[in-house]
Amino acid sequence: MNKSAIGLIGLATMGANLARNIANKGFRVSVFNRTTEKTEKFVKHATKSQSEPKGEQNVSEANSNLIGTYTLQEFVAGLETPRKIILLIKAGQAVDDMTAELSPLLDKNDIIIDCGNSHFKDTERRQKELAKHDLNFIGCGISGGEEGALHGPSLMPGGKKEAWKKIRPIFEKIAAKDFAGKPCVTHIGDFGSGHFVKMVHNGIEYAIMQLLAESYDMLKNLGGFSNSELAKIFTGYNKNPNLKSFLIEITAKIFVKKDPEDHSKNPHFLIDLIKDAAGQKGTGKWTTEIAHDLGVYAPTINAAVDARIVSGDTKTREMSQRMLKIQTTAKRLTPADKKKLVKQVENALELATMICYEQGIGLISKADKEFHWNLNRSEIIRIWQGGCIIRSGYLKDLAIALGADQKTAMTMFTKIMQNLGGDKQKSWRKVILLAVESAIPVPAFYATLNYYDSYAEARLPQNLIQAQRDFFGAHGYERTDKPGSFHIKW
Ligand code: 6PG
Repeated sequence: MNKSAIGLIGLATMGANLARNIANKGFRVSVFNRTTEKTEKFVKHATKSQSEPKGEQNVSEANSNLIGTYTLQEFVAGLETPRKIILLIKAGQAVDDMTAELSPLLDKNDIIIDCGNSHFKDTERRQKELAKHDLNFIGCGISGGEEGALHGPSLMPGGKKEAWKKIRPIFEKIAAKDFAGKPCVTHIGDFGSGHFVKMVHNGIEYAIMQLLAESYDMLKNLGGFSNSELAKIFTGYNKNPNLKSFLIEITAKIFVKKDPEDHSKNPHFLIDLIKDAAGQKGTGKWTTEIAHDLGVYAPTINAAVDARIVSGDTKTREMSQRMLKIQTTAKRLTPADKKKLVKQVENALELATMICYEQGIGLISKADKEFHWNLNRSEIIRIWQGGCIIRSGYLKDLAIALGADQKTAMTMFTKIMQNLGGDKQKSWRKVILLAVESAIPVPAFYATLNYYDSYAEARLPQNLIQAQRDFFGAHGYERTDKPGSFHIKW
């Protein structure tokens, strides 16, 4: 009996598409889902499209590579050893349950690869547990949504290198490509580093999405631009080499999407009908938690998580809107001001986005030191160049700036610093000023500027905090002129 190169458990959209991707790349893949009908339907659909005359050749090959299995025993028995099993199931208890059911069926050196958005500490606990039975557990971040899973995601595997080597040929084939055509996958490092890096990716994702939402707010409510104009503006932003990104591209498309449920002659724009309460599954919040635990300053990620929280508090907002008076000092924008605003927001967005990546890298660097992971930051940025949600043109320069070639890295770093320190910075400040004057909340824009200004300032006012702590709590303070800890009776 022919055995499968790899197995995949969990046929929700992501799992189903990843299985198709693997099969499309010529690997035989066994699939299993708890609900048998889901597997039957998935495989039946695959076989059906196989016989469809218009199916491309690689599609029919792919479909014959998809093997439905209906018990875990059958699934495991059909895999080449060492077995490689991808889990694409709900993060949390489901991963523990599935691992517990699977492991007695597996042999030494078999590999479970958890591709869900699991917490890196859970991943490390599972790795330890399975290592007792000589089983490998890889925590693999996967980004790119449904489309990415099907056509090429960015993959962030973390775990034992020997286990990575076994899955590498498949993972390199199914991944997206970076700017140089290399696969957007690398061995991130041992332990939970893969899931940690994916979590930080999501933290950056939250931050950039919030910046885009604030830009939209400014342009719509201060600039008075219509949805069609907004689409044009964001399409224009996407031509800026640093801003060119998946998130800006989809944002431009969102503005012109009409309500599919409105069959009138002049349907409404869907964006105007969508509730303003943003949900979250948790990775953004985890990023802020670990940033606080590790003592890393990541204000934009914090601001983005907070902004989602306040957006969800619809009841309080609706109630307080009637009580809270707003006094603004804003003037009406002239057509020339409006034109300027488009450029100002573009400049602010460009620099602020750069700062979001910087905050993520700062967190990765600190975790690397703390947990002794020995991460390659340039490689991490490289594998975010394609497939993932935060892919952007800027990551070309950033990968170089973080690279091993010191001379090139320094030149690129200087170029980035010059951009941050140049004229565009005035726009960044101006956008925040305009927002404050017009009572438009821009927490992420402001947080990024605070990040920049705090690091640009050699002396912060926290000497006063130290004095206050010593005054009321005898917590002691350090002095600038001599070493040691001091306390006085204030
Ligand atoms: C990705 C996304 C993906 C998912 C987020 C959404 O990289 O493909 O990040 O993992 O869309 O988990 O997270 P929230 O529901 O928390 O916004």
